[in-house]
Amino acid sequence: MSAREKGSKAGRGAVESGEKATSLRYKMMDLAKSRKDVISLGRGDPDLHTQREIIDGTMKYFSTLSNRDASSDNSILGPVRGLPDLKRKIADRYMEEKGISVDPEKELIITNGGQEGLFLALLALVDPGDKVACPDPRYTSYDQAIGACGGTIVSIPTQQEGRFFELKEADLREYASDAKLLVFVNPSNPTGSCATVESVRKLAEVAKEMGIIVLSDEIYEDIIFDDHKSLCFWGVDGARDRSIVLSGFSKSYAMTGFRVGFLVGPPDFIDAVSSIKETTSGPCPTFSQYAALAALEMENDSRPQFLSRYKDRRQILMDGFNRMRVPYAEHYGGLFLWADMTRFGIGAEEFCYRLLRDAGVLMFPGNSFGDSWRNWVRVSLLAPKKSIEEAMARMTEFVEGLEEDG
Ligand SMILES: Cc1ncc(COP(=O)(O)O)c(C=O)c1O
Repeated sequence: MSAREKGSKAGRGAVESGEKATSLRYKMMDLAKSRKDVISLGRGDPDLHTQREIIDGTMKYFSTLSNRDASSDNSILGPVRGLPDLKRKIADRYMEEKGISVDPEKELIITNGGQEGLFLALLALVDPGDKVACPDPRYTSYDQAIGACGGTIVSIPTQQEGRFFELKEADLREYASDAKLLVFVNPSNPTGSCATVESVRKLAEVAKEMGIIVLSDEIYEDIIFDDHKSLCFWGVDGARDRSIVLSGFSKSYAMTGFRVGFLVGPPDFIDAVSSIKETTSGPCPTFSQYAALAALEMENDSRPQFLSRYKDRRQILMDGFNRMRVPYAEHYGGLFLWADMTRFGIGAEEFCYRLLRDAGVLMFPGNSFGDSWRNWVRVSLLAPKKSIEEAMARMTEFVEGLEEDG
């Protein structure tokens, strides 16, 4: 069997496991739709309102369109790598907030959400048969994207002891010796872990030593709690020529529907992504890019206010789980809590199904983030405070029922 055949076979397996996991989440969402009073703590799309200034910025762009002179050569279709003003603003942000220089013309490309960024990056980097290391548990779109490129996944365990999840450099060394690439999410979906500055540095050092390219998914970069500090992968000295950062506007600014993400990477990588994007999706819609520009130009940055709202919601979930004696992973960032339902003895799929059917609360079973997580559930912070309180009250009653039965 040729490397290509081997790769595509391996790829099909990865696609299938990713599809299985995604379809499990969609089945739960369909069931949730069949009930009126469901509180959804499932999907990861922020429920907070996109700020007024962002909508206004988009409308301003639309009004320039309707006032456009017919003879104008001002094309509505922007450059494939994104609007220069938006790229410049993102690069300015990287300098102001992270102290990292990014050349907006050579080292940055705007994508249709982080999701497209993920697929484009992997298409540019992964050849059939390549091994790609990923944390376990993980966001299973990675499996689908890696599989679509014919790559094979190498899972790296991240559960350290009990409730502590972190990708450790020693495990990267042990599990990923023949991997070409590491796809790593920080802060994590689904565990809520967030690598410290020191551990990002160590991962970068070991990846460099092993000759592994790193794709650092930092889509939750603005949602880090309790003064915990992390580091952008591009901020590690000597790492930028072998690493790529993926991020976007969906989570930071509650702009999922606008579909604006971006990749920061070495110029030859950005060139490769750009030529794939040119022949597939083309540029990100211009109005969405104006919306993203408005987000970066907002007078009252909505991120601190969003973070404080997520913090309140997270506390309600943590208090509820503590009362129910449900252990959850130590939580530092991102939009999910990762909780262990082992003691109920029915497995997460059954637990989530019955919780939805009997109590009208939607959570995702852990096995939709990796096969071995059959007793864990992922719970999002993405419902108003009152609804989360109600969800915890319903879950408490449900759990008491299980305890009585058991
Ligand atoms: C880990 C991770 N990466 C990337 C994405 C893609 O986000 P979007 O396409 O909305 O920018 C998501 C979305 O949920 C995610 O959880």
